[in-house]
Amino acid sequence: MAEPWFYTETVKDHFFNPRNIFKTEKEIAEYKADGVGEVGSPACGDVMKMWIKIKDDRIVECKWQTFGCASAIASTSMLSVIVTEHNGMSLDKALDIKPQDIVSRLGELPLRKFHCSVLGHRALRAAINDYFKKTKQEKRMVKDEPMQNICGVKQ
Ligand code: FES
Repeated sequence: MAEPWFYTETVKDHFFNPRNIFKTEKEIAEYKADGVGEVGSPACGDVMKMWIKIKDDRIVECKWQTFGCASAIASTSMLSVIVTEHNGMSLDKALDIKPQDIVSRLGELPLRKFHCSVLGHRALRAAINDYFKKTKQEKRMVKDEPMQNICGVKQ
């Protein structure tokens, strides 16, 4: 059976109305983040940057910006909701999130668009690592395999 090309209503909603996205350089310049993460390759345009605020070991704010595609925008919008809803997710729990968890909350993504959800997922982990580094909690830092084949470009 051919792979479906359709996006769910939830994907479309998060693409057309992305949650927690930075819209201006001024917003970014004035934002006081506790952790910042950036992943992707500027060469192909798939870059994701994420800013988080932490309180009592929970993510209370999650902001982001990307050059990625519609699926990356929808996935990261959903991820930013998942980690900040219910007074914020604990950092340990946030590190347990898998790209599949984001896609499940979106309903689904076409198979060849699954990698787009990895961008936000990796940016979040990088931002959490940055927070751990800044707060001298290096022991809690996570090590991920380098990302490969995001749109065919090695990072
Ligand atoms: S991030 Fe979606 S096609 Fe590369």
